[in-house]
Amino acid sequence: MSQFWKPGTEKPRLLDDEEGGLLFFSSLPSSSSSGFGYLSIERLRQRLPVYKYRTAILYLVENHATTIVVGETGSGKTTQIPQYLKEAGWADGGRVIACTQPRRLAVQAVASRVAEEMGVKLGEEVGYTIRFEDVTKNGVTMIKFLTDGVLLREMMDDPLLTKYSVIMVDEAHERSISTDILMGLLRKIQRRRPGLRLIISSATIEAKSMASFFNSSKKRRETEGEVQGPRMEPAILSVEGRGFNVQIHYAEEPVSNYVQAAVSTVLSIHDQEPTGDILVFLTGQDDIDAVVQMLNEEVQNRGRNSSGLIILPLYSGLPRADQELVFTPTPRGKRKVVISTNVAETSLTLEGIVYVIDSGFSKQRFYNPISDIENLVVAPISKASARQRAGRAGRIRPGKCYRLYTEEYFVNEMATEGIPEIQRSNLVSCIIQLKALGIDNILGFNWPASPSPEAMVRALEVLYSLGVLDDDAKLTSPAGFQVAEIPLDPMISKMILSSSQLGCSEEIITIAAVLSIQKYNVALDTVNKYSAILQSIWVSGRGAQKELDEAKLRFAAAEGDHVTFLNVYKGFFQSGKSSQWCHKNFVNYHAMKKVVEIREQLRRIAQRIGIALKSCEGDMLAVRKAITAGFFANACHLEAHSHSGKYKTIRSSQEVYIHPSSVLFRAPKCTLAPLLTVVTFGVNPKWVIYHSLVSTDRQYMRNVISIDPSWLTEVAPHFYQHQHPASMLH
Ligand code: CDP
Ligand code: MG
Repeated sequence: MSQFWKPGTEKPRLLDDEEGGLLFFSSLPSSSSSGFGYLSIERLRQRLPVYKYRTAILYLVENHATTIVVGETGSGKTTQIPQYLKEAGWADGGRVIACTQPRRLAVQAVASRVAEEMGVKLGEEVGYTIRFEDVTKNGVTMIKFLTDGVLLREMMDDPLLTKYSVIMVDEAHERSISTDILMGLLRKIQRRRPGLRLIISSATIEAKSMASFFNSSKKRRETEGEVQGPRMEPAILSVEGRGFNVQIHYAEEPVSNYVQAAVSTVLSIHDQEPTGDILVFLTGQDDIDAVVQMLNEEVQNRGRNSSGLIILPLYSGLPRADQELVFTPTPRGKRKVVISTNVAETSLTLEGIVYVIDSGFSKQRFYNPISDIENLVVAPISKASARQRAGRAGRIRPGKCYRLYTEEYFVNEMATEGIPEIQRSNLVSCIIQLKALGIDNILGFNWPASPSPEAMVRALEVLYSLGVLDDDAKLTSPAGFQVAEIPLDPMISKMILSSSQLGCSEEIITIAAVLSIQKYNVALDTVNKYSAILQSIWVSGRGAQKELDEAKLRFAAAEGDHVTFLNVYKGFFQSGKSSQWCHKNFVNYHAMKKVVEIREQLRRIAQRIGIALKSCEGDMLAVRKAITAGFFANACHLEAHSHSGKYKTIRSSQEVYIHPSSVLFRAPKCTLAPLLTVVTFGVNPKWVIYHSLVSTDRQYMRNVISIDPSWLTEVAPHFYQHQHPASMLH
């Protein structure tokens, strides 16, 4: 491979050979195998680097309000520390130990691992909660894993989080938006509840800035004189990992197609390097599926030579059973290739990895407060991330990392650290949550990293125009409080609220449930970003685009995608929720089951906050109006004489196009849709509202519905009359 690769000069870590039984270690069974085989669980746990620090950690937690634990991925922070705390009595007397994660996938994986280690059934002593899924038992669960977004939500009912004795904020280095807000709020809670212990755990040494962040409560304690209890200044503990030396190889030349380059690198490693699993970092389902497919084809073409490859994708939209495959030990004589998003960077530890291929990219959220557009885009990672990725190769023995970019690029172009998510996100959901928690002075809030004033102003504007905030920027009553109670993007919550008055809440709740399972729904997921789990209600990747298009046509409604969702849901329901029906119609059965589940939960929430559940019996006008009431800010107008389907947003005159996945993209040829009233196929609707934008070569609108422009001034008079004279709309 030397002709393509140049060894890097990054200083390798010290070779640590103290563990003799390397291969033995690599073949340890992990969570999804049947039991733990020949090594007792106790022995296994004791071999983790964090074990040496058990006493120290417990001592620090006892004596300090906040303990910061830094340790390399795989050292046992997430799975072990909660167990140590439980063993030391922190869960006695009905108290609960919480451990937060930024990613849903990690919450589930880690909770089931810990339940297995403790020999208990998941959902009993060890449980987890992610949005729309609560696997815990009141009074029984002692260790609870949850997303940071869910913990924020819990504060709305219990502002001091009284049931928790210790809260471990895990993966703090990721600086997810919810982690940052959580840290700001936990600091406040700690002042009111000095008994609460915090553990901030991180894979990189940002510990110092964290420590000074938590240290500012110190003064108060000193002025109070001698008070019993923990010391307020944070303790820092660094867990030494036993990472092995990882040789870095850089691409000789800039790589133009990282998908292709990843495939050929996997194959050359397989041909030329000794055994050991391969981990490839790509950005998302699209490129992961592409690489999986290319590798599978290659394996078939080559016949026996490559038959030793086990090719496994890993991303959060994957069915649970497929996710678990990556944790199963590699059979003798085989080589596992895991093709993953950056979930494998620090959140999950895979055993047996010796080779890492780093594309140098990940999907990141970027928000432009001027255009008010938030996008999930493929962007270069930071040096810190690149080092984390490389580190995954040195877990069981010295490894190699192939970077699909040049050394020059790494040294000169890559940023040292990533930008905290709060500085590149839409803040609407974040602000409404803080308001609901009684934090009125958003500007004065103690942010671990301050968001930009433009983004803040923009979010306040949106919330004001939704009628969620009043002139004093306080939550309106009841609308503002109701919207805050619904765990969805405020625009969706507002749409649900309006459907109550329009008599179509049953339909709108179905639509909200469908929207909430979609990927790329960044706007929807500003608070709980990792909750976007399934790409769509359609099956993709069965390789028959034409048939999928035809199937879609059976449900397509001229009004647009939202109404089409209702048709699909209706068909699914009438089939008795049959999986055969789904298969026949190219509908994703798992997605639909999830829709049904989420729908039920949303109905319960709606009832709780006083929304009448009512069906409009096919009155799609009401449905479209309700959507407009939430999403009026996303209204667009077809450019006059535009044959290319070019739209402009009303708000900022951005050029946008209908996404090819929308039923409005190609004018359907037949008129079979059951709910159609007026059929105007073949013509682009003049006025539309979109749910979200995806940017590739252009800005594309996903989930589009046609509207009547007069509704805009009707549902959002202040918004459209102030910014855009009503005359503009006609
Ligand atoms: O949190 P940290 O990265 O420090 O480590 P961890 O997630 O607690 O992982 C400790 C060990 O548990 C690793 O060696 C993993 O091999 C193992 N583990 C596993 O086998 N299966 C899981 N689902 C989670 C962890
Ligand atoms: Mg961890």
